[in-house]
Amino acid sequence: MATTIKNTPRAGTERVDAHDKVRGATRYAADDVRPGLLHAALVPSRIARGRITDIDSAAAQRVRGVRAVLTHENIGAFDSGGFLMGGGFGFQSVYPLRSAQIAYRGQSVAMVVADTLEAAREAAALVAVAYEAAPFVATLDAPDAEPLAQTAVLPQPMFADRRVGDPEGALAGAAVTVDLRYTLPAQHQNPMEIIATVAEWDSEGVLTIHEPTQNAEGVRHGVAKQLGLDAARVRVRSPSLGGGFGQKNSLQSHTALVAIAARTLGRPVKLVMTRAQLFHNASFRPASRHRVRLGADRHGRLLAAIHEIDQQTSRHDLFPSMGTEITSRLYGIDHFLGQERLVRTDVQTPGYMRAPFEHPAAFAFESAIDEMAYALDRDPVALRLANDAAADPLTGKPFSSRHVNECLVRGSEMFGWARRTMAPGSMRAPDGSQVGWGVAIGTYKAAMAPAIATVRLRSNGTVRVAVGGHEMGQGMRTAIAVTVARALGAPVAAVEILLGDTTAAPQHLTAGSWGTATALPPVQEAAQRLMDDLRQHAGAAAGEAGVTALALLRASGRPHAEAESRRRAPGQPEQVFGRLTGGLPAAAGPVYPDFVGFSFIAHFVEVRIEPTTRRIRVPRVVSVADCGIVASPRTARSQVEGGVVWGIGAALREVSEVDPRYGGFLNADLAEYVLPVAADIGRIEVDFVGKPDTRLNALGVKGLGEVAMVGVAPAIVNAVFHATGKRLRRLPLMLEDLL
Ligand code: MOS
Repeated sequence: MATTIKNTPRAGTERVDAHDKVRGATRYAADDVRPGLLHAALVPSRIARGRITDIDSAAAQRVRGVRAVLTHENIGAFDSGGFLMGGGFGFQSVYPLRSAQIAYRGQSVAMVVADTLEAAREAAALVAVAYEAAPFVATLDAPDAEPLAQTAVLPQPMFADRRVGDPEGALAGAAVTVDLRYTLPAQHQNPMEIIATVAEWDSEGVLTIHEPTQNAEGVRHGVAKQLGLDAARVRVRSPSLGGGFGQKNSLQSHTALVAIAARTLGRPVKLVMTRAQLFHNASFRPASRHRVRLGADRHGRLLAAIHEIDQQTSRHDLFPSMGTEITSRLYGIDHFLGQERLVRTDVQTPGYMRAPFEHPAAFAFESAIDEMAYALDRDPVALRLANDAAADPLTGKPFSSRHVNECLVRGSEMFGWARRTMAPGSMRAPDGSQVGWGVAIGTYKAAMAPAIATVRLRSNGTVRVAVGGHEMGQGMRTAIAVTVARALGAPVAAVEILLGDTTAAPQHLTAGSWGTATALPPVQEAAQRLMDDLRQHAGAAAGEAGVTALALLRASGRPHAEAESRRRAPGQPEQVFGRLTGGLPAAAGPVYPDFVGFSFIAHFVEVRIEPTTRRIRVPRVVSVADCGIVASPRTARSQVEGGVVWGIGAALREVSEVDPRYGGFLNADLAEYVLPVAADIGRIEVDFVGKPDTRLNALGVKGLGEVAMVGVAPAIVNAVFHATGKRLRRLPLMLEDLL
């Protein structure tokens, strides 16, 4: 049955964690203020590449309250935690303080630990470091930057060129072609909650780490490896994150340092990064540039596409580019070539940031599609509708579900697209502003990971759910609570949910928009098993219509009952649970044995451009998503609104500025890294197709968190073209671009 929540903007259970959040009762790692807690501060490198020749910490040691100044000279040996994309656990393979080498500006060269935060930061500023600097590459277009063919340097099939048909030949023979280049900057996530770590050791030598992470199991196994500990002696707790967005998806470079300091000093130690350090010590969205060539016949049939991407990586790691995974699936284009190249620069390793590849790739590809629509003189929605894919162009497999045209049709109606006039500059507001209407679509893989869930009902009526998954504000707790409450006939408020806790359940990385499709099916199954089990033990009560789990439990006379479920993605072998419990990524998708899985979205945007200042406003956006069944309407709507806001930021505001003379990032604070604020956001209307995808999983849910952002930026830029007749191919748009 299709579920529509149109015209019911407040529909759905409220966020189960809302009250605690607004009252400040939710405890984040940085909130830890227990007696005896020591405070750490990092000392950043002032050069972008080279080595440390001398560290003088005498002045730092003299600051009252300083307990230790750890450097590579005195910390002792500890292991690397490895690189997430290279079989390890970390966002990068460089772990500061293991040597004198400097790989990027801002890399930690020392860590001060003191009785107070003030003392730690004062002392950190007094650590005197001498360097021997080496030449470095700061940007994609630096003279020494050398693009490497990804297919050669990362020889796994998933990173290879994506080729189907004869793209070069079909392009050469096409009646209408476009050949366009696009540029996107590096960006930083800047979650509200800055990365913080508290490490404490108990008298048995068991280490507990409190750190906001999307990957508690990865942090656990990574730190265990780094410190040479049995993973059974490490616990990681990350119950609530104030935003993750991929920046918290793996072992951080500093976590083991905090644990070592706590062990050495025999006290719990807390490190809270500064906002500026977040720009240099955590991952970010790499800069990229794109060339898109499209070919079509005169009737508007897209025949061929070649999408080439150059993406920034670090000198020490190869962070793969996956952009053409989605641009090859946006349309039914028979002749496609996707080619990705990596460019080494001297930075910390870039990584996953909400729709990490999909947002940049869709910006380029969906801008080019709009240019093609104008080259063909076709309405941009009609052109898209006419080029839908019946099956996956790359593999020939069916889509598990694909309702992108329904997103386009419904979005057109909600937006009033039929009233749009095609010619650029043809629409005006009463105040003289130029009006532009733009459209773009997005897609994102529907991935899933293995998970183990337990549901336990006690005779006092409380339900305890433990499952692998991390709540970073996206609404996972709410989706789980709603699902369990429904299955057991229990009040939502009775459901207690343990997430991000390695002592409660194995904690697979929560990312790639697979959280709901990963955690909900085993939670639902465990709850169902619990009901079945209770019915068997409840005698006559089992037959009553609408009977609750609690009534059955009480009828059975048992104090509690529990059930478990283990689920994995279609096609995954049982051994995948070994990767799950070992803290290694074990997600599947988008290609499954019998189908491919993707979520879809269509965005419709109005821009208004003030005639003299050229200020660009976005008064309204309509977004319609196909994410399968909507598990939690309120948080799903919020996810899409957030994705739209991110898209507005990407199109009009956000850029991490690089000065090629110095490397690093210049605007490393929230005053200079410009984000959209409430005044920049107009009306955002959200709707869902709501058709369950039961090929993918029993609940019929696909992912939503990231597809929400894919296509927003090109819809805005296409609207700016419609308003002004000016094609802008570099993000973010600047006022001077329109002068
Ligand atoms: Mo997300 S960028 O996959 O945490």
